[in-house]
Amino acid sequence: MLKKYKILTLTHHNINLKKLGRYVIPETEGDLLKQKLHEMKQALHMDELMYLATCNRVMYFFTNDQLLDDALITRLFKMANPALSAEEVEIGIEAANLYEGESAMQHLFEVASSIDSLVIGEREILRQFRTAYDQSKEWGLTGDDIRLALRYAIETAKSVYDKTRIGERPVSVVSLAIQEMRKLNLATRSRILLVGAGQTNTLAAKFLVKYGFDNVHVFNRSQDKAKALANRFGGTGFALDALHSYKGGFDVLIVCTGSTKAIIDSTIYQSLLNGETDKKVIIDLSMPNNVATPVTQDFDNHYIEVEGLRKLANENHNFRKQEVLKAQVLLAEQISTFRVVYQQRQLEKVLQHVPAEIKAIKSHAINVVFKKDLDGMDDDTRDLFERMITYMEKRCISVPMKAAKEIV
Ligand SMILES: NC(=O)c1ccc[n+]([C@@H]2O[C@H](COP(=O)([O-])OP(=O)(O)OC[C@H]3O[C@@H](n4cnc5c(N)ncnc54)[C@H](OP(=O)(O)O)[C@@H]3O)[C@@H](O)[C@H]2O)c1
Repeated sequence: MLKKYKILTLTHHNINLKKLGRYVIPETEGDLLKQKLHEMKQALHMDELMYLATCNRVMYFFTNDQLLDDALITRLFKMANPALSAEEVEIGIEAANLYEGESAMQHLFEVASSIDSLVIGEREILRQFRTAYDQSKEWGLTGDDIRLALRYAIETAKSVYDKTRIGERPVSVVSLAIQEMRKLNLATRSRILLVGAGQTNTLAAKFLVKYGFDNVHVFNRSQDKAKALANRFGGTGFALDALHSYKGGFDVLIVCTGSTKAIIDSTIYQSLLNGETDKKVIIDLSMPNNVATPVTQDFDNHYIEVEGLRKLANENHNFRKQEVLKAQVLLAEQISTFRVVYQQRQLEKVLQHVPAEIKAIKSHAINVVFKKDLDGMDDDTRDLFERMITYMEKRCISVPMKAAKEIV
């Protein structure tokens, strides 16, 4: 019944997160991403498609009646990023997880509920999930099947957060990164530069405030957002381009944007150093990374990125194991409910033309087949006849609907 639902995904479970960035569609936003997804949907015969890329997963959730095989995955990866080498495509095929039917729904619910997250219990995934769906919907990529699945996935996630302690003592990739940074015992007056002013760096800023860091400046593509974030520290908000000429120095560079290209290359980094040679801290949570690899290799630095947070994430996992088991029970219940709801919805769709057809039959009977007989009737008889036929019409419409509900 649910076999149209399919998921193809690469996650932290089966690929190094430094490599995951290569499987993210390089056109991050706007018309190019929309166009790419439409091309993929059409070429790969998908009926509906939702695309989700986070710091630890790339997921294609789609519906169709095709077989999910290596040929399809190869085409999908090549379309997603034509710059992938043959070897990278092979690695992607090896690492990818494919889910179909109920197991696709199970995976979807697990992702939404953060059971499958690198940091189990983090709530950010639900926001990312919603944003990805809203975007796919707005771009005309999704339809009724994904809408219904998402509605249940989000309901399930809420119920998991409400009925288990999975989100207790909330953690996130950002909180773990800051935890890692604090192990370095930095002075609260350390000069911190935030590059990006989206959700992730806003969360990072919250932690910086919490731990007393107050020497923070922000660079962002939209300068107004940089200013708003910098205001929290009494710092300055710059446009992204200002990175080239900034000479204020830094101790910590926190980079996190939605760009799929590196923002900090060796030239910009060298310029930001402004002649300083002491060991700096680089935190890069972007997927793919926004700090170019040579920067992290050629300069003296403490480098904190998502892949390196696995150990801390696993410790968090152990704390939440029991809650994951409870969540799995809720998920199983929700999948059973979804199966019934989906079946009902399919019947509704099949039967949705019934009222219009019955109305058309009634109209044809009155205006064509029995027209002459009706024209010869007196007003009372005609009124009675029309009331009878309207009554019949309503009853006829309700019979198949009722039967359909009983079948399910
Ligand atoms: N959300 C999380 O929990 C989380 C955790 C860890 C890592 N990450 C990763 O962090 C990155 C950003 O995620 P987010 O949730 O913070 O996204 P977001 O809220 O959508 O913010 C995106 C940020 O990136 C900037 N940006 C987007 N495209 C850009 C481009 N092409 N060039 C320069 N700047 C660009 C945006 O600038 P404007 O303000 O000008 O739009 C904004 O500051 C992603 O790679 C994500 O996977 C997210």
